[in-house]
Amino acid sequence: MIKNILRLVRTRFSEAGLATPALDARILVRHFFNVSDADLITGTASGSEAQQALLEEAVVRRLQGEPVSRIIGYREFWGMNFRVTPDTLDPRPDTERLVEMVVESFSDSPPRMILDLGTGTGCILLALLKEFSQARGIGIDINPGAVDVSRENMENNGLSERASFLVGDWRDSLPLMPGAQFDLIVSNPPYIPESDIDTLAPEVKNHDPILALTAGQTGLEAYKIIIMAIKPLLSPQGRCFFEIGQNQHAEVQRLVEDSGLCVRRIGADYSGILRVVEIGHGDK
Ligand SMILES: C[S@@+](CC[C@H](N)C(=O)[O-])C[C@H]1O[C@@H](n2cnc3c(N)ncnc32)[C@H](O)[C@@H]1O
Repeated sequence: MIKNILRLVRTRFSEAGLATPALDARILVRHFFNVSDADLITGTASGSEAQQALLEEAVVRRLQGEPVSRIIGYREFWGMNFRVTPDTLDPRPDTERLVEMVVESFSDSPPRMILDLGTGTGCILLALLKEFSQARGIGIDINPGAVDVSRENMENNGLSERASFLVGDWRDSLPLMPGAQFDLIVSNPPYIPESDIDTLAPEVKNHDPILALTAGQTGLEAYKIIIMAIKPLLSPQGRCFFEIGQNQHAEVQRLVEDSGLCVRRIGADYSGILRVVEIGHGDK
């Protein structure tokens, strides 16, 4: 029975010391048996032999350190499904905090035009377009493979009318947008110092694309370029939100202030780490 299979998988994951054994087991069993959460609790079916064989293969991959989202090929973010591939970062729950802060910040006057720099799966932009039904948005990524995935996610989430995804490098595409004005600019750029890559968990360093993890020696290279470029693109009341790495808030704040912009607030993620910087033109 499926519920017994679920229990066995959960036990194997737990004994192997995985961080979230119950969640991982539930997602894999639900996916390979094509059942709902309710079926997992009450279901008496056992699935076919083929389904059981596929699940076993997936369990072994998980035990070898492959993230669940890489095994099943998608990840849930902000209540939406996003395809993930080797070209895209696996969207992180902490990035939902950025979306949450944007939604709080724009509760009175929703944004009309949104720019997402380093869009990956498109998760941030598409989640925001779901929240702000009158908004339109552009997502840019240097990796053409990621842009293909973001377009697929746009279509699968029914947002093709209001989103466009473009291949571009923020080093040269942002200066080519003279006159463009955005009420909201968001970015979760690569922020890990190159020298730290080897110290990352195997689940990250072996499965997330290097282009999504690091942009140089200090981890601040992407912020320097983006902060220099966004001032003319941000509308007078516009706001920009960055995801940042642990302990980067003071340096990012300095870069923001050096550019003539101002930090409005710095928010913590669900573990209490300062993770999201909100930026505007002037007075808070
Ligand atoms: C940390 S990932 C974020 C992906 C997605 N926004 C998310 O939060 O899951 C950073 C993204 O920036 C892209 N990127 C890296 N360097 C870039 C550049 N110079 N110009 C544009 N995009 C870049 C990477 O390809 C990657 O998709």
